[in-house]
Amino acid sequence: MEREKFSSKFGALMVIIGSAVGLGNIWRFPYMVGANGGAAFILLYILFAVIICLPVMLAEISIGRKSRTNAFGGMYRLSGEKKFWKGASLLYLVTPCLITFFYCVIGGMTIEFFFRSFGLNIPSGPWWTLLWTLLFLGCNAVIIMGGVKDGIERSSKIMMPMLFVIIVLMALRSITLPSSTEATTGALDGVKFLFRPDFSKITAQTAIAALGQAFFSLSLGSGVLMTYGSYVERHYNVRTISWQIVLSDMGFAIIAGIAVIPAVFALKADPAAVLSDNMDSALVFEILPEVFPMMPLGGVLQPLFFFALFLAALTSSISQFEVPVAAVMNDGKVSRKKASLILLAVFTVGCTICSLVPKTISIFDAIASNWLLPIGGVLAVIFIGWFYSKEEFRSELSSGDLYPTGNRLFGFVLLLIKYIAPLGVLAIFLSKIFLTR
Ligand code: PHE
Repeated sequence: MEREKFSSKFGALMVIIGSAVGLGNIWRFPYMVGANGGAAFILLYILFAVIICLPVMLAEISIGRKSRTNAFGGMYRLSGEKKFWKGASLLYLVTPCLITFFYCVIGGMTIEFFFRSFGLNIPSGPWWTLLWTLLFLGCNAVIIMGGVKDGIERSSKIMMPMLFVIIVLMALRSITLPSSTEATTGALDGVKFLFRPDFSKITAQTAIAALGQAFFSLSLGSGVLMTYGSYVERHYNVRTISWQIVLSDMGFAIIAGIAVIPAVFALKADPAAVLSDNMDSALVFEILPEVFPMMPLGGVLQPLFFFALFLAALTSSISQFEVPVAAVMNDGKVSRKKASLILLAVFTVGCTICSLVPKTISIFDAIASNWLLPIGGVLAVIFIGWFYSKEEFRSELSSGDLYPTGNRLFGFVLLLIKYIAPLGVLAIFLSKIFLTR
């Protein structure tokens, strides 16, 4: 059977940006910024995105597209079938599964909070959480069974533009909010809080947080970009796509920050304290539902916001779902439907654990985001930088070239891939090990 592909450049971009833009941007980014020194954190995040994440992204997409196979088999095929790379690629089966286990619980919460925002009296408790989680997981399964073009691409082409419009609307509402009487500050102070750098807050811990956030938000190190890369046509340039992903992801994160933080500043008394006490999932799922009813048009915006969060989560979780499905289809020689059902069973078990034992959510998140994703990313740059033909890589990067001059930077890209990206991650790992003692 012929390998599935994305049908258009626009579709490919919506799908890949859809994977990158997710709960990481709207739920995680605002509180990470708030907790880690505002704009100073954003600057670090941008620096890491450019010197570490962009090279990792070039390596991962190239591996997928060149090998034209799934994340589990990509490096194996390009290495001339060296067993080591197959073993190492097991990581790309484990990581997306681990992320799916907890991600779907938060995804389920977006559905729950969507219905709650109509004032419905919905009971809560672990079994209800499980129900929402499985509903969210079911939405994923339906799309994945539809296939690359008719499931993933078609749905992303609808969901991503919708998400963009809603988040921009939310941001406009948030920065134009008048201060409520009891609030000491207004929306503009929230914008200042986001964009004024406080360099005194930059510590090694902040750096770790910024790198982890960048990897998670860009879906790096998870096998997603290899798998999706393998569906991208050869006449789309890998460098151009990568820049577009990084810039859109950053743009979305910043607009989401503007949608959330200034609203808290305008409507809550002592916003800085509220923010610093709620620098976790509470920001979106506890503080915002308190803030919405206080704002003009809040009754309409609240369900819209949770709907946007649902769309963002869904386009990301389908990418995690697709990675092992593609591998099982390929290596197990089974149909897409069968592979999807096998993984649905695995995910149901994992998601049930995360729903019923909420402690596991932050444990799985920490293992996956702080360790497995950076290791997965480093593996890809080490493969390309040290074990793969430079000429092949160069030709992969310039295939479909819009700006042939970009190839002049090849030496610099190689420097980033061979040394800067792996050493940067290593430095951050070491400081993590020594600092958390
Ligand atoms: N990038 C997604 C987000 O920001 C999360 C994700 C991580 C998706 C890893 C796929 C793989 O929410």
